[in-house]
Amino acid sequence: MRFQGKRILLGVTGGIAAYKTLSLVRLLRAEGADVRVLLTHGAEIMAGRGAFEALSGHPVAENVFAPVESPEFSSVAHIELARWADLLLIAPCTAHTLAKLAAGEADTLLTLVYLATKAPRLVAPSMNCAMLGSPAVQRNIRRLAEDGATIVEASSGELACGESGKGRLPEPEELLEICFDRLSPAPTRGEVVVVAGRTEEAVDPVRVITNRSSGKTGLEIARAFRAAGWSVSAVLGPCDVAWPAWAPATRVRSALEMEAACKKAAKRADCVVMAAAVADFRPERVAEQKIKRSSAMKSLKLVPNPDVLAEISSMKKGPLTVGFALETGDLVARAREKLARKGCDLLVMNNPLNGDEAGFGKDRVEWGILSPAGAVVEPKTRSKEELAGALVRAVESLRAASTSRSSAGGAR
Ligand code: CTP
Repeated sequence: MRFQGKRILLGVTGGIAAYKTLSLVRLLRAEGADVRVLLTHGAEIMAGRGAFEALSGHPVAENVFAPVESPEFSSVAHIELARWADLLLIAPCTAHTLAKLAAGEADTLLTLVYLATKAPRLVAPSMNCAMLGSPAVQRNIRRLAEDGATIVEASSGELACGESGKGRLPEPEELLEICFDRLSPAPTRGEVVVVAGRTEEAVDPVRVITNRSSGKTGLEIARAFRAAGWSVSAVLGPCDVAWPAWAPATRVRSALEMEAACKKAAKRADCVVMAAAVADFRPERVAEQKIKRSSAMKSLKLVPNPDVLAEISSMKKGPLTVGFALETGDLVARAREKLARKGCDLLVMNNPLNGDEAGFGKDRVEWGILSPAGAVVEPKTRSKEELAGALVRAVESLRAASTSRSSAGGAR
């Protein structure tokens, strides 16, 4: 529930992409946000107010002269809505509304709220590619950016008019991530690299050795760091989750590629979280052609892959490192051994088999956090979201302790 307690004011104008924002309202509410919708007259014609009212659970505000039909708002609805919002998103924003906003016009409820709010303002222009590229529209976009709004870049592809080019409203899932990033504190706490997903070790041009890691835990951790004000990037193996643009990812496939990308990223990072499921072995040789059923080769010779976490943990003046240990036996004893072997600063230990409702694919799992000094968080069955939050706190307190030690002349 990343948006729990957050109040999002969504201004929809009369572009064809208005329909996409219906899904956005649903996604925001599913993550705990309170959403209110403002429609321009054009948007009401394009998308209608009924669906927005049903999905947001609030009356839709449109006309500045008619008080919003809600006991929470009086006839100065524009000021009350402006104060209510934690974030104002205008999506899609037509060329017409863009021009009004750039000129500071105040003739509709939406333009009034835009002027009155102190909340961050996100504006997502969406229109035909030639219109978007026109000098006047570009001038207005620049003006809004200069005035402090954040411009959501239009994406490229097929447009409603049949042409192909830049001007599409980003998909609702992308808009959701843009809202999350804008609502998170400025990324001043430090730089974390989240390494997530699985690796694929090629056998021949069409076959690989891999595992079932989905990348969900890595994503949860990336979100928790971003929400706490960290700058997040990623080294990402193949995975099943849509990775957000606010955490730029270097895509890799094999363990060797992951090793190279991690070593490079670790040089500039304050912390590396190794949540990836790295294959421990790879085929000694990759066949150049597809191996035939009739081939003489009936077994694969494997050679060990590097231990990426151990290598980064041994870097001189390297980042703080966090490892993961999925164990099905004696959790703490095995995790302690792994922490010592890998030389990392923190180890998240979890046992997916413990507890009735806990485990693979579930939201709850038995987990704890270990440092060389002992348990930072005792193992217990809890949600994976709690795990991510606890991990950020553990990293921050370790960092604070090592900063005060190094300013007093100690090591890392
Ligand atoms: N890891 C790594 N490089 C590898 C294997 C694992 O960096 N070649 C990292 C994982 O990302 C994880 C931690 O090491 O953070 C522990 O991974 P795990 O698979 O549990 O450990 P193994 O080294 O494979 O040890 P074992 O087989 O004894 O469980």
